Amino acid sequence: MKALDDVTILDFTHVQSGPTCTQLLAWLGADVIKVERPGAGDATRKQLVDKPGADSLYFTMLNHNKRSLTLNAKHASGRQILERLVKTCDVLVENFAPGALDRMGFTWERIQELNPRMILASVKGFGPGPYAECKVYENVAQCAGGAASTTGFRDGPPLVTGAQIGDSGTGLHLALGIVAALFQRESSGRGQRVFAPMQDGVLNLCRVKLRDQQRLDAGPLTEYSQYGEGAPFGDATPRAGNDSGGGQPGRILKCKGWETDPNAYTYFITQAAVWEAICEVIGKPEWKDAPDYATPPARLPRLNEIFDAIEAWTVTKTKFEVMDICNPLNIPVGPILSMKELAEEPSLRETGTIVEVDHPERGPYLTVGCPIKMSDSEVEVARAPLLGEHTQEVLREVLNYSDDDVAALIESGAV
Ligand code: COA
Repeated sequence: MKALDDVTILDFTHVQSGPTCTQLLAWLGADVIKVERPGAGDATRKQLVDKPGADSLYFTMLNHNKRSLTLNAKHASGRQILERLVKTCDVLVENFAPGALDRMGFTWERIQELNPRMILASVKGFGPGPYAECKVYENVAQCAGGAASTTGFRDGPPLVTGAQIGDSGTGLHLALGIVAALFQRESSGRGQRVFAPMQDGVLNLCRVKLRDQQRLDAGPLTEYSQYGEGAPFGDATPRAGNDSGGGQPGRILKCKGWETDPNAYTYFITQAAVWEAICEVIGKPEWKDAPDYATPPARLPRLNEIFDAIEAWTVTKTKFEVMDICNPLNIPVGPILSMKELAEEPSLRETGTIVEVDHPERGPYLTVGCPIKMSDSEVEVARAPLLGEHTQEVLREVLNYSDDDVAALIESGAV
């Protein structure tokens, strides 16, 4: 048994945002039928190719546990197959450019006519408004959703982050909307539209920065390093470097080996409740009672001096030694882990978060498995499908086409 057994997804997604959503639904047990253009398929199959002739990691790591059906949606017979799929499936997920699905003949009204229980789930760059018609990619969404303006250092340009909050983040939002719509359909008997604009998804993830925008009306943001540095605040939430987002000051500090290892750093939070333990560990016991250091408000204008002192200690230890010493004292720290270290981490292999998958074209490769762990719905990560690998199977099993029908459809170029 899987959580989404008996749910069939007509997966019209491509690139990253939509595919991450349908991959999650597949891991939760849905039968995901990915529709791709004959001969070409999802453009990512052949992007950032590392093994000539084989599907790229870009594609394979975003499309596990799906079936691939090739189908020309602009061919009359291809459209008929699509209509039958709309009648049969529970959810249609798409992230085409605005208007593309309508131009294929599948408006929301037409979909409802074909199947009133159908859930139509879409990702677009923007919701209704001046940019509704724009095509959007990850970094555009990060910039338009408030992430870039609040990431980076005060004296540097806006920065995008490596976490794919625009694509994968929006895919997650969409998946939640789909599951909720399936749940509501149990009582309403009706499908509905689920819409997740990337700008909105990024802004949702930047919620605390909109919090700070409003706090600016009440004065400077005292937990930001720039307060202690005496730099005036402007009228918008500034970039905060590596300051922690909460009220407990934190920074990224050098550890032993930083001169040669770009990831020999630790995050260190001066959690108020364990201030005395921090003073002991870093060899500054006199700061425990000194009026300039003993209380959080007293420390705020002195954060640079305080973190310099903490770094003078962290730089004598490896990032893992810092973790080993601070954790038992409840001092919140975290090593900066590289992708190499994560790929090799045994505990992540054991929990299925890092998985080795075999692929007929590529051989074995590593992927990130399902990050959501459910006690009654186990996930087995299966390789991504080859282009059109399941075309005939889907036509026969899902739509009951005969062998002759299938042969004729192949002959016609519709699939
Ligand atoms: N058969 C026939 N035609 C197909 C097809 C199929 N199986 N699959 C796709 N197509 C057609 C579409 O109908 C569309 O044709 P049209 O423009 O003539 O109507 C065309 O392929 C291209 O679709 P489009 O979505 O415009 O692709 P693109 O490569 O130009 O743009 C994006 C890519 C991602 C920018 C765009 O899809 C987009 O903005 N999506 C929404 C936001 C999003 O998800 N962005 C993040 C991507 S990670």
